[in-house]
Amino acid sequence: MKIISLSFDMDQYIEQAAELLMESFEHSWNTIEEATLEVKESLGDDRISRISVNDQGDLIGWIGGVRSYDGNVWEMHPLVVSKDWRGKGIGRLLVEDFESIVAEKGGITVLLGTDDEDNKTTIGGIDLYPDLYENMQNVRNLKNHPYEFYQKVGYKIVGLIPDANGFGRPDILMAKRVKEI
Ligand SMILES: CC(C)(COP(=O)(O)OP(=O)(O)OC[C@H]1O[C@@H](n2cnc3c(N)ncnc32)[C@H](O)[C@@H]1OP(=O)(O)O)[C@@H](O)C(=O)NCCC(=O)NCCS
Repeated sequence: MKIISLSFDMDQYIEQAAELLMESFEHSWNTIEEATLEVKESLGDDRISRISVNDQGDLIGWIGGVRSYDGNVWEMHPLVVSKDWRGKGIGRLLVEDFESIVAEKGGITVLLGTDDEDNKTTIGGIDLYPDLYENMQNVRNLKNHPYEFYQKVGYKIVGLIPDANGFGRPDILMAKRVKEI
């Protein structure tokens, strides 16, 4: 397995990355054309777009990111590993690779949002406002929500966006400092 930068001339990998998005995120992209556009947008200026490729030459993971806050913060989006390859440390490797590129570019923080659209955590399906901080502090995973993956690779929950995807469907904001201070 190797991790390389995705570029405009890699038609086959752009197509495989779009297919991976469609397979993995049921709420986000309706058509393969929309997903392909998302992949191509990840190749613009002020972006990072890295893919993991297995020994047979197939794309098995993709991580992207956008520069923000004058380059102090990079927003990670998206991160996805092909179903058959999950649980083998590929997600962790992609995140570590991404973080080292952010640090090389002078970034301090990686920020990401991970939605709970299907009540996969204790903060889904409820009105968050009355006990916002308590809910944030005591969040529990009910159905394999990826926020716990991010915790395992060093991210902290830094905020919630209540109703980000409709009532009771919040976004969980997570961040990590990736540069020594
Ligand atoms: C989330 C995702 C990227 C993780 O990738 P992965 O390659 O399976 O993760 P890794 O094998 O590197 O796992 C690293 C650690 O996180 C844990 N982990 C992975 N997914 C987890 C989950 N959903 N819930 C809890 N823990 C999880 C692993 O068990 C492992 O723990 P360990 O260090 O104690 O062994 C992958 O499951 C995926 O692509 N999911 C679908 C898309 C998605 O949800 N992306 C994130 C959207 S914000």
